[in-house]
Amino acid sequence: DTDAFPSDFLDIDDLTGDQLATVLARASDLKAGKDLTQLPRTTLAMLFEKPSTRTRASFETGMTQLGGHAMFLGPDAIQLGHGEPLKDTARALGGYADAIMVRTFAHENAEILAEYADVPVINGLTDDAHPCQTLADLLTIHEEVGDLSDVQAAWVGDGNNVGRSFAVGAALAGLDLTVATPDGYGLGDDVYERCAELGTEPTVADTPEEAVADADVVYTDVWVSMGEEGRREVKLPDFEGYQVNEELAGTDAAFMHCLPAHRGEEVTDAVLESERSLVWEQAENRMHAQKGLLVELLT
Ligand code: CP
Ligand code: NVA
Repeated sequence: DTDAFPSDFLDIDDLTGDQLATVLARASDLKAGKDLTQLPRTTLAMLFEKPSTRTRASFETGMTQLGGHAMFLGPDAIQLGHGEPLKDTARALGGYADAIMVRTFAHENAEILAEYADVPVINGLTDDAHPCQTLADLLTIHEEVGDLSDVQAAWVGDGNNVGRSFAVGAALAGLDLTVATPDGYGLGDDVYERCAELGTEPTVADTPEEAVADADVVYTDVWVSMGEEGRREVKLPDFEGYQVNEELAGTDAAFMHCLPAHRGEEVTDAVLESERSLVWEQAENRMHAQKGLLVELLT
């Protein structure tokens, strides 16, 4: 369609379905060396309030491959961590960088940055959303499992940031999704509303077994996310029966996890290390997917 590409990427449904397809196609072409688009003299400022391995490394290497530069700004090293307001940080960084990536706690922080910075802001994970992960996940499913509209996926476990963006991305891409989350840990009503607006709501299963029954892909994530460490003792017992082990996952379905994983909690070592585990493909595809996004956002 002819909709303008959004100025910021705070969640996956900032894109239309067509724009999502464009980003994924661009990512595939960049990965295959068929698209040689570069972003010379381009700087991505990366603001991190939580730890990261994949997000930092994939954006940094992606920017290098595109002929640009990524600047890591950690919480202790910059004035933001010492009391400077986010809206001031946003305007200062906007004066140097061509785009800002942010990993923060409250989703509202990403919205404030987007409001005050006059360059595109990319969400590198908030408590509510992880849309860059969804881009990589959809690219991986397309490469390893099949046409997105033919795939049946199951989300098992916590209805967290990764699950929320994946569910909305699934609706946007026409992927069938069934969800099993313990009571009190659902994806959130707003996710179902946004999916409904896009034409398909996830199916809610009563049990993990029911969710995975017809799944081509079983996806899970940690039970205790960054920032929730204090709730660990309360949360863990609520997830009994939700571990993706060989019994639950069967032998056919592919397995996905955004990583980092906690072996022995949400997934077993055997499943994570099995032939059908796509976790390393997902991790690598973070870089390719984000290169596609950066090119679409900045050219
Ligand atoms: N999947 C993901 O975002 O990993 P990191 O926390 O290592 O960036
Ligand atoms: N749900 C996890 C994802 C980490 C990439 C967290 O927020 O910690």
